[in-house]
Amino acid sequence: MIRRAWQSSMIALARSKAAKSAMQRWGAASDLASRFVAGATVEDAVARAAGLHAEHSIRGSLFYLGEYVDRLDLVAENVAAKCAIADHLGRTGLDIHISVDPTQIGHNIDPALGRRHAFTIAEAIRQAAGNRPGVHGLMLDMEDHSVVDATIALHDALQSAGMPMALTLQAYLRRTEADIQAQIRRGSRIRLVKGAFVAGNDIAFTRQPEIKANSRRLIDLMFSKGSRDAGAYPVLASHDDRLQAYALERAAAAGWRAGEYEFEMLLGVRNDVARDLAGRGERVRLYLPFGRDWWPYAVRRIGENPRNATLLLRALIGSSR
Ligand code: FDA
Repeated sequence: MIRRAWQSSMIALARSKAAKSAMQRWGAASDLASRFVAGATVEDAVARAAGLHAEHSIRGSLFYLGEYVDRLDLVAENVAAKCAIADHLGRTGLDIHISVDPTQIGHNIDPALGRRHAFTIAEAIRQAAGNRPGVHGLMLDMEDHSVVDATIALHDALQSAGMPMALTLQAYLRRTEADIQAQIRRGSRIRLVKGAFVAGNDIAFTRQPEIKANSRRLIDLMFSKGSRDAGAYPVLASHDDRLQAYALERAAAAGWRAGEYEFEMLLGVRNDVARDLAGRGERVRLYLPFGRDWWPYAVRRIGENPRNATLLLRALIGSSR
């Protein structure tokens, strides 16, 4: 209950335009920004991805920050930034792996515009990747429950058109079991997360033990033999080491080999666990957000873990000096 209230208040703070503009003016140099964000520019983020790969064999998924955008000029900036990532990564040997929130490329303004932009970005990735080996693609992040149908439809349309696509699904939603079954039948790349949003009990699991129990049921599906036979590619995006251990156990039982699935984690959150998994030969990816629009993203990370409240407090005190 307390955790849910904390998470809801952090989501409200993340969406506060006044707080965002004050904090971002104050500086991306705060502890809060530098802990969770890979820099201000695409060059910074690509350099960070290259370093992680060279040092720890950890892959990256680059994310240009900016979400719930309601202005066409900002949408255009976001689309240009995503295409620039494809271009920069295309000049390296790294995966061309880009995360995109539908609302940052125009979905809320006009779903048809969002769809055209998603096509543009996916095509940029496809061309930059060419025949080069690697796990290339556009990973659609999943936002609040009001956009789930549209995000899945967008994924399916682009995937059917031959674009390199991947889709995030959230264990807190009751519908996700059916959504995962449908994506397994399509042989999709599916990233399972617990969910950074809250919703009513009618459509969502609201207590952590329920969300964890549902995560296990969904891992059973994603790492089943049937899923492997269908050509699905499971991605477990969680910092929960018990869930990771459970996925490894299910994967081994169903005959999956390391490299046929992956673990994804966020930059700045339990990086020791990521390095440990990679050191054991597992495929690991870090989500590498970058750009000047860091406040909503960083505050949501705080919302996931009340123990990070001191980071938020230090940032707020620093900005008021
Ligand atoms: P959980 O919250 O149970 O924590 C497990 C352990 O990790 C605990 O010890 C905890 O203290 C620690 N931990 C977790 N978060 C921490 C933090 N921020 N700081 C410090 N320690 C922390 N959500 C969504 O709705 N849509 C999306 O598209 C995505 N995309 C996405 C991509 C990737 C790569 C990841 C890892 C996560 C997402 N999420 C997401 C967020 C996700 O839904 C979820 O809110 C967080 O991952 C937290 O849940 P965990 O399963 O990681 O573990």
